[in-house]
Amino acid sequence: MTLPPLKDRIPMISIPVNESIRQAMRAIDRGAIGFALLTEPENGRFVGLVTDGDIRRALLKGLGMESPVSEVPRPGSQSASVHTPPEEIAAMFSEFLRVVPLLDAAGKVVDLAIFDPRVRLPVAEPILGEKELQYVSECVLTGWVSSAGKFVTRFEAMFAEFCEARHAVATSNGTTALHLALLALEIGPGDEVIVPSLTFIATANAVLYTGAQPVLVDSEPDTWNIDPAKVKAAITPQTKAIIPVHLYGHPADMGALREIADRHGLAIIEDAAEAHGARYNDRPVGGLGEIGIFSFYGNKIITTGEGGMVVTNRDDLAEKVRILRDHGMSPDKRYWHRVLGYNYRMTNLQAALGVAQMERIESLLAKKKEIAAAYSAGLAGIPGIELPPQMSWAENVYWLYSIIIDPQVFGCSRDDLMNHLKQVDIETRPLFPPIHQQPIYNTGQSLPVAERLSENGLSLPSAVTLKLEDVARIVEAIKKASCQ
Ligand SMILES: Cc1ncc(COP(=O)(O)O)c(C=O)c1O
Repeated sequence: MTLPPLKDRIPMISIPVNESIRQAMRAIDRGAIGFALLTEPENGRFVGLVTDGDIRRALLKGLGMESPVSEVPRPGSQSASVHTPPEEIAAMFSEFLRVVPLLDAAGKVVDLAIFDPRVRLPVAEPILGEKELQYVSECVLTGWVSSAGKFVTRFEAMFAEFCEARHAVATSNGTTALHLALLALEIGPGDEVIVPSLTFIATANAVLYTGAQPVLVDSEPDTWNIDPAKVKAAITPQTKAIIPVHLYGHPADMGALREIADRHGLAIIEDAAEAHGARYNDRPVGGLGEIGIFSFYGNKIITTGEGGMVVTNRDDLAEKVRILRDHGMSPDKRYWHRVLGYNYRMTNLQAALGVAQMERIESLLAKKKEIAAAYSAGLAGIPGIELPPQMSWAENVYWLYSIIIDPQVFGCSRDDLMNHLKQVDIETRPLFPPIHQQPIYNTGQSLPVAERLSENGLSLPSAVTLKLEDVARIVEAIKKASCQ
């Protein structure tokens, strides 16, 4: 049976408010859109909207099938005049309000405005499905919800294999992973660590947590990543390590950095928070330095809600990270603490999500590349747009497909373009403000490449839920903005 269009289903799903819950459920079934419209018995005027969820909750609280539906609490009930402008209706929608009945002058429902999640195109959005639900439910049903449990070890093993590294140690988030990586290398007060200024603040903050000093350097114009020549110039006798960040999914120039690090006896800590699966000379990032870290925040390539991972090929560093992650407890004697440690463990619940996400990571990466190829094909040749880096030695995973605007050539500034796209429900994000300009650092340095990229760069919708026709819509919207 095919159902009539939404508008024509209004009579099928409308029932007088003095009817029973049973009648309301029948109306919901008839309409097959998850809710019924309640009306005044005398004149058919709209009273409220009841969803199947509202009814389930009311039944659990003790109402019966024959109770009047008027007794069901209806938190998401709102309506608007049929003459309300579409932008005003769009502003009414929220996570909890997905339907707005539209009323005529007599107060009767004549149409329905339904939130279409596809209208807004997000920068990032996780895909969480049946496997994620199954594994998380398994934790809930078995009671293994803290950091002990099979999913943590399984997730670590899968991730180590994915990075072609000997060890992976799961943590509560990417920032704690960075902190542990620095501590395992015994970096502390009096030491300096070289960090790109153009990155998320956590990269530098983790250095400060240890008491060491982050030394901020400029980016390369070709890769947007830490500039090896600037690293060389920033080395002092206090320098202990370099943290290259594989920004937005494109690897840093690891060969050049390795050479510098080896010459000066420095460690490399890869910040691969944004680059799961990216490759440098066909080797996966994360295991290329002494130690590396990843983030699994909700907007990352795979997510565990909050979560992180430390990756290393060195047995000694992996062991130190495990001890420091768990309050510094000795592996051979419980509740015995020789060093100051932390509670930076990942829960089994988070790892359950992680395992399910790892089972689909190849398809997520393929989707990212498909989206990027569609953007690059659509945007290539538009004057004033610089496409994301793609060096011959690198495999970019395009965590966020980001572009740089040359306002003079493009015809409008980055901020104007972002505003224009926002008006047509296309979400964007500016590139990170450089750390040397952030109030808590404010070093007074001039780092022109990072500043130019940050001022003129934006990330376009890169969620794996995007369709190719969405990318085409975005490209057209960008072209339109450039001609304004
Ligand atoms: C480059 C970089 N480093 C570190 C982090 C910190 O990760 P988390 O948010 O999981 O603490 C992030 C992310 O959010 C990041 O983008």
